[in-house]
Formats: sequence, C-alpha cells, structure tokens
Amino acid sequence: MANGRRRLRLAPSLLSADFGALGDAVRAAEAGGADALHLDVMDGHFVPNISFGPALVAAVRARTRLPLDVHLMITDPLRYLEPFQKAGGDTLVFHIESGSDPKEVVRRARALGVAVGGAVKPETPLASLDPIFDELDQVLVMSVHPGFSGQEFLPDVVPKIRAARARIDRDGRATDLSVDGGVTASTGRVAAEAGARFFVCGNAVFAGGDVAGNLRRLRAAVEEGGGG
Ligand code: DX5
Ligand code: ZN
Repeated sequence: MANGRRRLRLAPSLLSADFGALGDAVRAAEAGGADALHLDVMDGHFVPNISFGPALVAAVRARTRLPLDVHLMITDPLRYLEPFQKAGGDTLVFHIESGSDPKEVVRRARALGVAVGGAVKPETPLASLDPIFDELDQVLVMSVHPGFSGQEFLPDVVPKIRAARARIDRDGRATDLSVDGGVTASTGRVAAEAGARFFVCGNAVFAGGDVAGNLRRLRAAVEEGGGG
C-alpha cells in the first residue's frame, strides 16, 4: 500500500484541554475516537511558553491506552528522552532546531525503544531533516509558530507538506506525516490534500466541549481531502 493512502489519524492536543479536568479530556478524546494523544512539552527557552513535564505525561499514561505522542519543544531533547520514555511516551518528537545532535537523538530514542519524530518550525526548510529523514518514524510539519494553541494555520507550509509526502512515497517508507497547529476542518482538508496523514488538533477538538462531535467533523473533513 502506498504510504499516501495510510489511514488518517487524529491526535487531540491536550494543551487546549482544561488542565483542571485533564482526566475527563483524555476520556472524552478516547471515547470520541481519537487515534493518539499529543502532549506539548514547552520549556520556556525553545519556545516562550512553559507547559508541563514527564509527571503529567505519566498521569495521562495511567488513564488511557491511546498512543502518546510527546512533542518536545525544548532546547535539549537528548537529555529528556529517557524521562519521557519512562513516563509512557510512545513517540518522542524533537525539533531539528533544538541544540541536540539529531543523529544522536534518533540513536538514543531507538535504544530506549520508542518511536522518534522530527519536527520543523514553519520557517525551517524540510532539507534540514536530511541527515535523519530516512530514520524517522514521523515527520512533523508545524503550521503555526510553536508555543501556543489556538493560532491560525499558516498556509505557507502546505508546499512543505507536499514535498515531504513526495519524498516519503518516493522512498516507499512508512513514515508518518503529521501537521500541527491551527488544524480545523477546512485547514485539515487542505493539509490532507497535500499529503498529511496525522493531524494534531487542539482547539478544534476541545473548544466548545463537544469532543466527539468535533472529532467526527474533523475526520470527515480530512478524509474528504485525503481520499480516506
Ligand atoms: C503549538 C503546539 C500545538 C498546538 C495545537 O506549539 O505544538 O500542538 O497545541 O493547538 P491548535 O490546534 O489549537 O493550534
Ligand atoms: Zn504540538
């Protein structure tokens, strides 16, 4: 099967959930058909915001069977791979713009037995992933400037999604291609058309409270764009 036709998956980002009722948000996302959960770790250095660390990932791990994608928006991911693996992360996504040696991050993640993703900020070219592209389980294209949920999707990243899709398909790899930031029914459809197969959605899932309905609408939209 061409990778481009892999099943589309939705990963609600807990950053947009009510932190005072996180267990409820996790349950609602799982019951509503989420395929994974996305956990945004921010250190106040790599991005201007601070969110949470391994203890919260562990608390989420204890409440769901869904795969946990941990998005490390931190300056020294290498140092924190093990704590997040121990906390229950299934995929650890690090930024190519972070200070750590990317090959070393991939090697260490493999040694820890977790899947590894490489993320690029909106202004970072896809080619910056070249040294590790073939070793990644997931390529994450950021469609907002990392730091906050609830921002608008930046359409300039669409050609980058398309280029990543073309490269993954050309090489016949099973690499996940995810898009993160400002994904709504309409922008999700655009990203799906460009070849994204994994959709991180924060506000579009948790705003308004109808998590199952929001997930249903998002799924219908991306399937329309991605051919189902
Ligand atoms: C931004 C985070 C995103 C964000 C998604 O730095 O990486 O995962 O929380 O939230 P929305 O979908 O609201 O942009
Ligand atoms: Zn994220």
